[in-house]
Parts: sequence; C-alpha cells; structure tokens
Amino acid sequence: MQSSEIETKAAFDHIRYAQLWEDADVLTEGLGDCSHGTLVSICSAGDNALAMLTLDPKRVVVVDLSPAQIACLRLRMGAYRNLDHAEFLELTGSRPSARRADLLLKALDEVDNETREFWIALSGDVKKHGAGGVGKFERYFRIFRTRLLPLAHSRKTIDDIFISRPPAERKEFFEKRFNTLRWRLLLGVFFSRFVMGRMGRDKAFFEHVVGSPAQHVARRIRHAGVDCDPADNPYLHWIMKGTHGAALPMPWRAEHYETIKSRLDRIEIRPGSLEAFVSTGEQANGFNLSDIFEYMSPDVFAKVYETIVDASAPKARLVYWNMMAPRRVPDGMKGRITTLSDVENRLKAQDKAFFYSDFVVEEVIA
Ligand SMILES: C[S@@+](CC[C@H](N)C(=O)[O-])C[C@H]1O[C@@H](n2cnc3c(N)ncnc32)[C@H](O)[C@@H]1O
Repeated sequence: MQSSEIETKAAFDHIRYAQLWEDADVLTEGLGDCSHGTLVSICSAGDNALAMLTLDPKRVVVVDLSPAQIACLRLRMGAYRNLDHAEFLELTGSRPSARRADLLLKALDEVDNETREFWIALSGDVKKHGAGGVGKFERYFRIFRTRLLPLAHSRKTIDDIFISRPPAERKEFFEKRFNTLRWRLLLGVFFSRFVMGRMGRDKAFFEHVVGSPAQHVARRIRHAGVDCDPADNPYLHWIMKGTHGAALPMPWRAEHYETIKSRLDRIEIRPGSLEAFVSTGEQANGFNLSDIFEYMSPDVFAKVYETIVDASAPKARLVYWNMMAPRRVPDGMKGRITTLSDVENRLKAQDKAFFYSDFVVEEVIA
C-alpha cells in the first residue's frame, strides 16, 4: 500500500477536527454535476463526505490516515440513522443539551465495537462540548473563546456580530466596534506560529507555510465579517459562541437530513491515504481534497497531483483549499487541467470558512 509523506511526521492518535471547518456549500457547488459518479473525499470529521451525498453520486469513497477521524464519520452515520434532526444537533453541540450521553449511546447503537469504545471513552467531553467540540482544533477555539476573547470584547459586542446588517453597516460595525487595538493584539498572540503549533496544529504542518498566520487570519476575519454576512456563518458563530445559531453547516441543515440519511449506504470507508486510493486503478468523477496538499512539500505535491489526475475520469473536478501555503495545478500538469476560475471566484466570495487563503476548482480535460 502507498504511504503518505505526512504519515511519518504527525501523530494521528486523537481527534484533531471534531467537525469540518471547510464550507460544504462551496465544496458541493464546486464539484458540479456528479450524479451517479464516483466521488472521493478526505474524511476529516466526515461532514463534507456526507454533504457530497446530496449530489446523488453512485458512491463516495472516504479516505483518511487517521482512525480517529474515521471514527467521527462512523459516529455521524450512526447519528443520522438513529437520531432525529433535533437530537442530531444536540449531540453535535450545535444546540444545548442535557442528554448528550444518552444520544451518544443511541447513535452508537449499531456501530462496530472499536468505534463504540472510542466514543464511550470520550463520553464526558461529548456531554460538555458536543461531539463536534471534542477535537484538538475545537479545544483551541474554546480556549480562545473562554480565556482570550473576553479580554477584547464584551458579550454584547459578540452577540451583536450576529445581527444581520447591510454591507455598509457591517463595515462600520467591524471598524468601530470589532477590530479594536486590543483585538488585533490578541490575534497576534493567539495566532503566532508558536501558539498555533503547540495547541492547534502539529508543527509538521507549518513546515511549508509562508507568511504570518496572524496577518492571514486578520484578513480572513474581515472577509467573514464585512464581505459576508456573519449572521449566515455557522463557523464564525461556533468560534465566537461555542455553538451554532440559526445558521448551520450545510450537511447539518434540516433540509438535507433525510437525503443524507437515505444515502448512507453509498459511503465507502477506506482507512488509509488518498495515495492508496489512487494506486488502485479505480477512476473517480470528483475529489474533495480538503487542504491536504498543504501538508506536502511542493515536489511531493506535484507527484501526488499527477497520480490523482491519472485516477480521474474525464471532466472530473479536483476541489481543495489552501490555508497558507500556495498549491495549484503544478506546471507539468497544466496541459491536462482547466482551472475553473469563474466558479472559484464566485464561490470564494461566499466561502464561510474564513481560514483559507485560496479555494481551487480544477477540471481534468476530457
Ligand atoms: C488535511 S486535514 C484538514 C482539516 C480541515 N481543514 C477541516 O476543516 O477539517 C483533513 C484530514 O486529512 C487527513 N489527511 C492528510 N493527508 C492525507 C492523505 N495524504 N491521505 C489521506 N488523508 C489525509 C488528516 O488525517 C485529516 O484528518
């Protein structure tokens, strides 16, 4: 089996992302028409692989190097099967709940023993934070929200972020009430490479990153607060308030619940690397590649990219994000790829997960 460069560098023994911090609305639009096709998705917490079921594919092959991340998907599948939508949102942490331990057991009813034991060991944390709040990344946000955010903003200011306003008023709110000197200082400390590396992301993930994370986050927060309406942004809401408000990530919305539930049997879980999938000789019609290219050196990226294109059917789309390290079709592959700039630009302007500096939609030439 093919191994992956990052496999040997970072420790994958716990949940890193307990929910998906990539916007499923832009992902599913970026993938285009995939009905009856084979899709491949990086698992992470599983939400976007599930969102891809709304595209009516024949199957979604889900890969991940981390067994803990695969366990997140298995829990969600049990939850869609055994919980109603309101219960699902309580279990994930989108909504407050006094019965998460019971909902967890109900969701785990038919899952394999390993997954059940994994989650039962986390039951205390799930009770407190919801199943979508127990990852290392969410813990990092929690520390930010509970210990640092109160140093910069009052509860009232934080609540006021989520009042829907026209663009000119958003700009005024952002400049006058939100982007204060204190806030900017806080961002500088919290998003320093040192703190992020220790608390949120493994140091190995910074090896190829260019620029300061804090400057980058400041630009993206402006995008989330001014260019887009924060009232529609579930990611921002969770970071600032620890739950979701009226807005939810796409696969958690009521309107998609039954569709996803009825297509769970189209999910095919393959623990292991994406590189392992592409070496099987199977072909896919679309790929959700998360931001995995950023975890690879440019040379490894170019090699892996080529193998993905080799494993693509004509017109297959490769959809992925960059956080801080630039990754786009490598020079040597430009003859086989069309960059869908119009689609990218339209979706980038709507991307609610504001961490990322770039969103890429590339199509394999037929
Ligand atoms: C790249 S991380 C990014 C997570 C993300 N930004 C989010 O919001 O969830 C997503 C997942 O990719 C997995 N991963 C990284 N490189 C991989 C590879 N080459 N093959 C399979 N999975 C990979 C990690 O284990 C992790 O669970």
